Amino acid sequence: MSTTAEIKIDGQTYEFPVITGTEGEKAIDISKLRDLTGHITLDFGYKNTGSTKSAITFLDGEQGILKYRGYPIEELAEKASFLEVAYLLIYGELPSAETLEKFQKDISMHTLIHEDMKKFFDGYPSKSHPMAQLSSLVCSLSTFYPESLEANQSDEEKDLTIIKMLAKMTTIVAFIYKKSLGHPLIYPKNKYDYITNYLWMTFGQRTEDFEPNPVVVSAMNKLLILHADHEQNCSTSTVRIVGSSDCNLYASISAGISALWGPLHGGANQAVIEMLEKIKADGGDTDKWIAKAKDKNDPFRMMGFGHRVYKNFDPRAKIIKKACDDILESLGINDPVLEIAKKLEQAALTDQYFIDRKLYPNVDFYSGIIYRALGFPSEMFTVLFALGRLPGWIAQWKEMRSNKEPIGRPRQIYVGDVDKHM
Ligand code: ACO
Repeated sequence: MSTTAEIKIDGQTYEFPVITGTEGEKAIDISKLRDLTGHITLDFGYKNTGSTKSAITFLDGEQGILKYRGYPIEELAEKASFLEVAYLLIYGELPSAETLEKFQKDISMHTLIHEDMKKFFDGYPSKSHPMAQLSSLVCSLSTFYPESLEANQSDEEKDLTIIKMLAKMTTIVAFIYKKSLGHPLIYPKNKYDYITNYLWMTFGQRTEDFEPNPVVVSAMNKLLILHADHEQNCSTSTVRIVGSSDCNLYASISAGISALWGPLHGGANQAVIEMLEKIKADGGDTDKWIAKAKDKNDPFRMMGFGHRVYKNFDPRAKIIKKACDDILESLGINDPVLEIAKKLEQAALTDQYFIDRKLYPNVDFYSGIIYRALGFPSEMFTVLFALGRLPGWIAQWKEMRSNKEPIGRPRQIYVGDVDKHM
């Protein structure tokens, strides 16, 4: 098997090493390309560009495989808790029972946010988008914990920043929701586990104790695990590239949250429900909307369909689809929007346009329906995605720092005017 690749430019041949990953994927290492040839590569949207070597997540888009640290997503979603998966992603191994207990306890001890942060919530317009609030609030954590600004934190200090990030995220996310309703904030309780505590702060009442519905806890656990990491996507690459300037964890995660917000990325879960509602209000004619999605003169896209990497099926969508059916059944919800979703899915899966372009339902197609069944407004959906993705972002930021990766700085081909003068 070849371990080098040759590139011929102006009659001269240059050799570059071929790197093979542990799952067999191959890359041509062109880090010396410009030095040797004076050329760079051009790859809009980085469709063929590997930005790093990573030991966190493996995905094979052709086969529909997703693994965290070697464990298949199907097994983790079935058997693990979200915090176990978070620990696995961040520290590389599944925790022992004792380690998990300590991890959970350490997080519980840091769930409160500084009381002064509550003033920020009062300052936002009541209808402002939760993702804008989340990104700002997470960045603001660095103002309350200035020790995080130190680029060369010891491992212990870094771990504490990570614990604080994981802990305060649930409180911030829950407070954003409560504020959007104009309800009083509910403070965290240390006796609850990570997900129950989040549900308590979101759905609990101030004076009563809280009995979480096990179906809801299990659904949240699964959803957060399925979203926990997805290698070098738009938001994760953002976290890594921001962190590569030695920027602190909170600000790097805040940048990732902004990147996730867009409807072509994490914002798609909100866009899916809004699309389904629109189709319903329009009379529910799915054929009409499929035709619109196929029409190149129509800007409409079938939200929740297609993926940059998955070209066969999204393994997360398979699990979520089943979870979605289970939840709707056990909560006794009959959602007319789900019927439209099912019709759209069937029609698109058998339509030549979608088959030719390998467009399948992605994770966002079903997650919105579950969040809706759990009682969340659509504007919160991407925030919940961010809550799930947090351990992945942290793990990727930590890996990038440990590998001492250089500052991210792509090049360009200049195509503007030349030699102009005043
Ligand atoms: N509806 C209709 N046509 C589509 C869709 C769609 N959802 N997605 C892609 N296509 C078509 C494109 O028009 C293009 O057609 P062409 O070859 O005839 O020009 C072809 O399929 C390839 O599409 P690209 O945009 O080049 O694919 P890319 O990999 O760049 O984009 C993306 C992937 C952004 C996910 C795209 O499929 C999309 O916009 N989907 C809808 C938004 C969405 O669901 N995003 C969530 C992704 S999952 C996540 O981030 C968590």
